[in-house]
Amino acid sequence: MKLWGGRFTENSSKILEEFNGSINFDKRMYREDIEGSIAHSRMLAVQGIIAGEEQKLIEEALGEVKSEIEEGAFTFNIGDEDIHMAIEKRLIEKVGPVGGKLHTARSRNDQVALDIRMHLKREGNLIMDLLRDVMEGIHSKSEENKDVIMPGYTHLQRAQPVSAAHHFMAYFQMFKRDYERMEQVMERLDEMPLGAGALAGTTYNIDRGFVAKELGFKKVTENSIDTVSDRDFIIEMNFVISMISMHLSRFCEEIVVWCTTEFSFVEMADTYSTGSSIMPQKKNPDVAELIRGKTGRIYGNLVGIMTVMKGLPLAYNKDTQEDKEGVFDSIDTIKISLLIFKEMFETMKINRNKMYENLEGGFINATDVADYLAKRGVPFREAHRVVGEIVVHCEINKKKISELKLEKFKEFHSEFGEDIHKKIGLENCVWERNSYGGTGREALAVQMANGKKYLNII
Ligand code: ARG
Repeated sequence: MKLWGGRFTENSSKILEEFNGSINFDKRMYREDIEGSIAHSRMLAVQGIIAGEEQKLIEEALGEVKSEIEEGAFTFNIGDEDIHMAIEKRLIEKVGPVGGKLHTARSRNDQVALDIRMHLKREGNLIMDLLRDVMEGIHSKSEENKDVIMPGYTHLQRAQPVSAAHHFMAYFQMFKRDYERMEQVMERLDEMPLGAGALAGTTYNIDRGFVAKELGFKKVTENSIDTVSDRDFIIEMNFVISMISMHLSRFCEEIVVWCTTEFSFVEMADTYSTGSSIMPQKKNPDVAELIRGKTGRIYGNLVGIMTVMKGLPLAYNKDTQEDKEGVFDSIDTIKISLLIFKEMFETMKINRNKMYENLEGGFINATDVADYLAKRGVPFREAHRVVGEIVVHCEINKKKISELKLEKFKEFHSEFGEDIHKKIGLENCVWERNSYGGTGREALAVQMANGKKYLNII
């Protein structure tokens, strides 16, 4: 007999149970369901809706159900439909009819809204911890490689030399924004839905504030109809995870490229690489590729729930049961991705010599040659044209700009002077770019200090 079986004369078909049930995936919210039920029963007792004795029985039995689940002694049965009904049914089995009082002034509609909010709060916090760990890893690797110079790219063409730390720390900023975005999601998750009932509230004299306090929510939701139909917070969670995944994927793409023989900027630790079943020489960056690849399913989950919610009328509709598998999958996927990314990144060896060698030959200091002239009063546009001509000359004569003699420079422009070679030296090009947020030594030191400060407050 179903808990809702009163008005039915026939049993559900087996295939309906398979199709309708969510217990196979919502059982992962058993803790939240039980915590929520305990808080609700306490409120019912405080308000005189059930007796104190009855509440004690219910709370004790719920504690036992929790242990049964955790010890693997609980049988999850698709016929029970979902975790809410399964736990309530077990409660009634244990304490008899008094267990049936738990669902007073409550509906599964506000119950599921509570469980999923609590679950996302828990998981969101874990993701934030992992994000922080990744940021910490990036920060310390940047510290270690503060003096390493590498080519900075635009259009994947060598553009200007930068500090490797500066390049890595660009990702720190991305993850910092993700962290802040997650904080904002957590803020909106922090509204307690129980008490909305099926959709319209209840005639019982309940105390929603009490339940919110018991469960550590800042506020209660304002509109009961919105409360049972709102899944914005699930979409937001999917979105923030998508952003994190996108950022990880961009970094992984670079790492995959850096691992190629052509680049050889980094070498992946054996522990985080895989081999080929046919080509004995291979050492593949599978971890980075997989993190990049998993972004696809994470985006899919976002688009999935957006599409489920499109056009849904108020208030609760069974469609929203489709909110869970996607977000659970995204949560699990991003957690393991962040974890393994951190380890892969930390153990990755930076090949500073190769990074430096690649600075040669790409005319990577051409901007600095133009700046040299511009600082002597030559209009930047004219300086740009002159340096373009120098580049062509060097290409034809297979020379680097720095190999030209002063006399040669002067043939291109009379403003070139003795100090030209020093000013366009690679170190100079990197360490002198001290505009705020630049790659220069002082600017980088400020950035690193600010990063450290941020890590200390989160
Ligand atoms: N398993 C359902 C879900 O995940 C719980 C709420 C069901 N409510 C209902 N009236 N059928 O959405």
